[in-house]
Amino acid sequence: MVHAGVTGWGKCLPPAVLSNADLATFLDTSDEWISSRTGIHERRISHVGLTELARVAAQRALAAANLDPAALELIVFGTTSFDDQAPNQASGLQQQLGAVRAAAMDVNTACTSFLYAWSTANALIRTGVVRNALVVGGEVISRFMDWNNRNVAVLFGDGCAALVLEACDRDEGLLGEKLGCDVGGRDALVIQGMGSRYADFERRYGVTNWIFDGQEIFRRAVIGMSQASVEVLAAHGISGDQLDLIVPHQANLRIIEAVAKRLDMPMERVFVNLQHYGNMSAATVPVALVEAVEAGRIKPGALLLLPAFGAGLTWCAHLVRWGARTVPLRESDACLPPAPHTALELVQALIRQRC
Ligand code: ACO
Repeated sequence: MVHAGVTGWGKCLPPAVLSNADLATFLDTSDEWISSRTGIHERRISHVGLTELARVAAQRALAAANLDPAALELIVFGTTSFDDQAPNQASGLQQQLGAVRAAAMDVNTACTSFLYAWSTANALIRTGVVRNALVVGGEVISRFMDWNNRNVAVLFGDGCAALVLEACDRDEGLLGEKLGCDVGGRDALVIQGMGSRYADFERRYGVTNWIFDGQEIFRRAVIGMSQASVEVLAAHGISGDQLDLIVPHQANLRIIEAVAKRLDMPMERVFVNLQHYGNMSAATVPVALVEAVEAGRIKPGALLLLPAFGAGLTWCAHLVRWGARTVPLRESDACLPPAPHTALELVQALIRQRC
């Protein structure tokens, strides 16, 4: 039986940091409100486009796997904030990498996009269509943010990370997943201004208005992530105490704590990094995974659970067996150009552009 092991991992966070205090300079909010309600202290704002963030993350992941981009057979890019819709995001990255033999596709399920992309690549490797894949989760959500809306502007940030998957005969990689969509919550999060229905120019494309019912999303997210986790664990005969680490979608610390409580998991076995980045949508889980490996929180052979939710409201939980290696085979020297402005200046420029 063919499996799809994780052989490479890499992340790229834009350097400009936007603090809660920065947000309070132009929104009626405070560090105290944001920290206590969400657990978020700061987030990153990108000075480059998504393709550039992804290029750096992907080059680091390919180096970690010691895989030549020209040998890559598939790129699956999970995102909601494409540089372009046509041609797609994955082909833009393919061009940057020189991955001339790869097929390239995007997956958009909002914050769960990276995990749905992983499911897609895993299936194509396990059925023999391709032998390896680059799976990317990335967002430059700052460019689609309504920076005048304190309900949402304080929650999100930019970032990107990527994994390399390669066919192997060991029982590792994605062991199983539970996917679903709580469509009853579809209207709880709608980003008006990001689709063809806005082509009548009543609202300029990209100038967004976020319809957002935080409490409703919170309630449904806890239920969806918990149920998906329970189902995938039961399907594989795994009990909670066999899990080494939960790496959940990072939207709100209180959501993560509520899911951990329902699963009877102590927070010591839950990886949390949202204090630094906020909700990076599709980038959240892969960045957390990469940081968990880098911090030594993922040991060789570790059993991981990755529960997530996103607009839709899509939900999922992935059960993953990490491989024998937690050290990159090679380091990449790929990096971003320096940011010419502070995060606050970048956001102020975005606010001016909307006017
Ligand atoms: N600063 C100060 N006050 C604020 C802010 C802010 N940034 N935002 C809202 N408030 C106010 C509200 O207006 C409200 O005031 P009111 O009582 O006078 O009406 C008050 O704070 C309380 O608001 P609540 O909604 O009760 O706050 P709650 O404790 O529920 O927290 C939050 C809100 C953080 C949004 C929470 O509900 C949440 O995290 N929900 C999940 C949302 C999420 O993560 N979505 C991600 C979507 S996934 C994707 O795919 C994009």
